[in-house]
Amino acid sequence: MTVDLDALIARMTWEQKLLQLQIVWRPDAAEREALLRRGIGSTFWPPSAEEANEAQRIAVEETELGIPVLVGLDVIHGQFTIFPTPLAQAASFDPAVAELDARVSASEARSAGVTWTFSPMVDVSRDPRWGRVVEGFDEDAYLASVFAAAKVAGYQGRALTAGDSVAACLKHFVAYGAGEAGRDYNSADVSDRRLRELYLEPFRAGVEAGAATVMAAFTSLNGTPMHAGRALLTGVLKDEWGFDGVVVGDADGVAQLVQHGIVPDERGAVIAAIEAGVDIVMGGTVLVDSDGVAFVSPDELSEERVDDAVRRVLRLKQRLGLFEHPYVDASAASHGTTERYRDLSRQAAERCTVLLTNGGALPLPDRGRILLAGPYARSLDHLGTWVQHFASTVRESLADAVAAELPAVDWDIVDGCGFFDATDASLGEAVSRAADADLVVVAVGEPSRISGEASSRADITLPEAQRRLIHALCDAGARVAVVLVTGRPLVVEDWIDRVDAVLCVWHLGSEAPAAIARTLSGRANPGGRVPMTFPRAVGQIPVHYDHERTGRPARTGRALLPETIAEFTGPNNTDDYYTSKFLDLPLGPRFDFGHGLSYTTFALEGFSLSTEALTADELDAGLRAEVTVTNTGDRAGDDVVLLFVTDEVASVTQPVRRLRGFSRVTLAPGESAAVGFRLDADDLRFWADGSRRVLEPGEFTVTVGDGTSEQRLALRLEEAA
Ligand code: BGC
Repeated sequence: MTVDLDALIARMTWEQKLLQLQIVWRPDAAEREALLRRGIGSTFWPPSAEEANEAQRIAVEETELGIPVLVGLDVIHGQFTIFPTPLAQAASFDPAVAELDARVSASEARSAGVTWTFSPMVDVSRDPRWGRVVEGFDEDAYLASVFAAAKVAGYQGRALTAGDSVAACLKHFVAYGAGEAGRDYNSADVSDRRLRELYLEPFRAGVEAGAATVMAAFTSLNGTPMHAGRALLTGVLKDEWGFDGVVVGDADGVAQLVQHGIVPDERGAVIAAIEAGVDIVMGGTVLVDSDGVAFVSPDELSEERVDDAVRRVLRLKQRLGLFEHPYVDASAASHGTTERYRDLSRQAAERCTVLLTNGGALPLPDRGRILLAGPYARSLDHLGTWVQHFASTVRESLADAVAAELPAVDWDIVDGCGFFDATDASLGEAVSRAADADLVVVAVGEPSRISGEASSRADITLPEAQRRLIHALCDAGARVAVVLVTGRPLVVEDWIDRVDAVLCVWHLGSEAPAAIARTLSGRANPGGRVPMTFPRAVGQIPVHYDHERTGRPARTGRALLPETIAEFTGPNNTDDYYTSKFLDLPLGPRFDFGHGLSYTTFALEGFSLSTEALTADELDAGLRAEVTVTNTGDRAGDDVVLLFVTDEVASVTQPVRRLRGFSRVTLAPGESAAVGFRLDADDLRFWADGSRRVLEPGEFTVTVGDGTSEQRLALRLEEAA
């Protein structure tokens, strides 16, 4: 059945139209029912298949127009079965991990009556103080774009009408991750060039992948709060990119235009937002009250714009097949996770761990006495941010999981401290137990509640109690391997050089303890990479791999502030003195984007390009880069090969390198594989300003690397004859 949307819109009253443009922020059951009877267009998930069906029944059978509702929910990294957080997923450098999460999420959600998820978040960020970096993928536009497309493909499946597909929502449009100082909801000021190159790019990729909806950002960008950002919401997203889906406002984001101080009242806010291109208002402003009175009149808001918004909402309902099939089979609905999905979640989790350092303590021996210490030894807090109260629980602790994984080890378990508190006695106990152990595994980190929305941190070190535990153990001479559970890159300077190994495991979801235990034992070999640079100090932020060149690049860092004036002018005053660096930090970050070790070793050889020089026309047909990667160690493992391009001379200052391809390969000991990449003109283009994307002839450098070694080749783009 195809509904004639124009005919339907022609029958609608002004009030009925406005009702389609609203989702109320988490109403209680009675309020929801009243809103549904009034004819509201969308609702948050009730939360069960039966109640979702009841919501549809009221909409379809008890309202004059019988239009089904969109049922929205934040299914961010799992509905019942929780997968690793999006940041962790990006660390896998394997988009199949993100697609799998989204497929499982969609099947659990849709079967229970959800039709629309507010995910993926594709905001790139270079500021780990921002708590929401855990909900996004990374600091890089290319990686984020690949993951955005994978998530959209996973959520939306082959067809939105399928019983295991939900509409995706790219959020938060745009530059939410650029908020000053990483403080959530803070304003951003971004050049048009950077907006195009960095912040818009993952949205463009997600729209190209067919994302059904987009959410506006809370932030004000260059003086315009995004909920009133007509030039971007309508100008770029809808007009330039041809996006014909729905733009939803964020929770109360429309009403907050008043707090932003660009409109005097909520009426002005609704008008500004809808005129700017918001199609659905999320939150408190009720567009039509319980007496059926509209909040704004057709004199205040263009009917043409309202009709366009209504058409977008109805079109989405049609794409989801809701006019024909508003109900789900409640008897077949997911009510919780399954062993099969848990197993998929564990497999995904094992692909996301990053081995940051290793002096040989990992993988763990399968015998001997090992002390497992730290608050994550027994905590079940592995789900990460943005999970709903009905999510599956974590069934075992890391202590249980390591005991099951390495049964011949003589395990001793001690907390040593809480997440935020330590006493001399608790630290002392850990130290004395460590004296009897051959090795200490310290499981520390950020509990889920201190990353995510509204969880910016000014100090991104481990909570002090946990640092004290690490230092106490190291002071006592213990050999320490750290399991680092985190929602963001942390500053680890004070302890990292004291410990033997660090395995970063992020928040890995429902099956985290088993995945961590299998990685500690070596049954799973860590193959993930850092998707966001780990700074050495908060003062170094923003720090990211694709920084632009400066006129005074530094060659060596300075580890110490000079103590005397003589040192400024004495032997330390080399020609590297007046260069771009911090006097009190070594050069560069602690861990660069792309860093990650393995229990085996790899070698990259035979890097080649299909040609060293070509014209733009020839480039359209594509250029091939190829390198051979060999597992030179004695156990199977995964290498991630990254391909970067550097534009050596351009009319606009360019980043030192830009990621243009990556590939994760699994190799048996001694095995080799050829890894190929295709480069085309788009990979060499850059935004000259906010309106022009150019391809300039000249010299380029193409680099392949895997975080431990790299190879470079020159490429020349010639003027057309
Ligand atoms: C968040 C969104 C989320 C929405 C609905 C807001 O506070 O910023 O990302 O989708 O709530 O739950």
